[in-house]
Amino acid sequence: MIRIKALDKGFNLEIKDIPSDKSISHRCAILSTLSDDTSIIENYLEAEDTVCSLDIIKKLGSKVIREGNRLMLIPSSKKMDYENIEFYCGNSGTTMRIFSGLLAGLLAKNDGSFSLSGDKYLMKRPMDRIVNPLKEIGCDIEAQVDNKYPPVIIKSAKIKSFDIKGSIASAQVKSALILAGLQADGVSYYEENIKTRNHTENMLIDMGASITSENNKITIHPMTKPLKPLNVIVPSDPSSAFFFAVIACIKPDSSVVLKNVSLNETRIEGFKVLEKMGANITYENISSTKEATGDIHISSSTLNGVVVENNIAWLIDEIPALAIAFIFAKGKSVVKNAKELRVKECDRIMAVVNNLTSLDVNVKEFDDGFEVIGGEFRSGEISSYGDHRIAMSFIILGLIKDIDIDETDCINTSFPNFFELIERLRVS
Ligand code: S3P
Repeated sequence: MIRIKALDKGFNLEIKDIPSDKSISHRCAILSTLSDDTSIIENYLEAEDTVCSLDIIKKLGSKVIREGNRLMLIPSSKKMDYENIEFYCGNSGTTMRIFSGLLAGLLAKNDGSFSLSGDKYLMKRPMDRIVNPLKEIGCDIEAQVDNKYPPVIIKSAKIKSFDIKGSIASAQVKSALILAGLQADGVSYYEENIKTRNHTENMLIDMGASITSENNKITIHPMTKPLKPLNVIVPSDPSSAFFFAVIACIKPDSSVVLKNVSLNETRIEGFKVLEKMGANITYENISSTKEATGDIHISSSTLNGVVVENNIAWLIDEIPALAIAFIFAKGKSVVKNAKELRVKECDRIMAVVNNLTSLDVNVKEFDDGFEVIGGEFRSGEISSYGDHRIAMSFIILGLIKDIDIDETDCINTSFPNFFELIERLRVS
């Protein structure tokens, strides 16, 4: 057990070193293999999840050279032997799912076979959501346990062009299919029922891929030659920044400036919900690039309850931290339509509800969400359930009133300098 001690006063701080965006970093590693030239990535996220993606491209023959905060990703120039390669994806669903699409594409042009596994948490996460559609379009792929769970085995692929309507709002599934579509035998289409984060499309278009996206329908033309390399400066991750937005809102006499954060509209809905609750938030120095970035200013706020039921994919990773803000809001807050939370790094509805209940918060569980009545809570013990976002959300609560938490190593999957930044709040 680790005790998180409450802050004894408010803070005023500018944070320049919120970790780099995890989603964009994974995609830099994965997509770099579609070029035959060197991709240059500044501020790649060096955390456990995204290092797994780098380890995988190394196994595929890429060289990874670090020079200060720059990463050079140099794809293999010689023909590789893809026979029986085993990849370890750690805790990262993004790695396992998006690489499955890329690897299926590789086997459309080469012989070989791949298997993907991960840590004990990832081995319990559903992979049928990528395996079934990839199978449908001609891949010999299976999720070995109960046709649902890892390891994922890919043996060959003859990818037929497709027209798929996605049934799950998932950027990982969409990305896997786009990557498979790049190696299909004709033009393919993938339609989302709800728009999800669009970094894969944005980056592939920058690399010269023939992809268009209109009204949530993506048209994918097969690749006829290697793509241009990536040249990306990765901004800070809004999902990591969000923990500090919440503590600035709920701690009296506090303010924080979160510098150079991704402001992609599909990523900042959590901040928009805080604004709807009455939070003092402004956005400054906004870039006019396709992937917008900027600084987010937040200060102590009086919050009201809110109903969160739309654009869930745009704030799915922020919901555990939002649940903490709900405790400090006047009245009832509700999350609905968020069943996807049950298949994240842990069942996040169960984790949030169990932890809040053990702290005497007035909380009710639904199949697809939960409800919190703002008010008092007590000090107590909680579990991270091995999930980085559950751990960080409840540590933020511990900064208001002491909390004991069982395990925090999981934070290294996305936010290695989290405790260092928490210590900075204490001395600012
Ligand atoms: C991610 C997509 C989301 C998100 C995850 C990262 C991505 O998952 O929860 O943390 O980088 O594509 P789903 O695609 O499963 O919704």
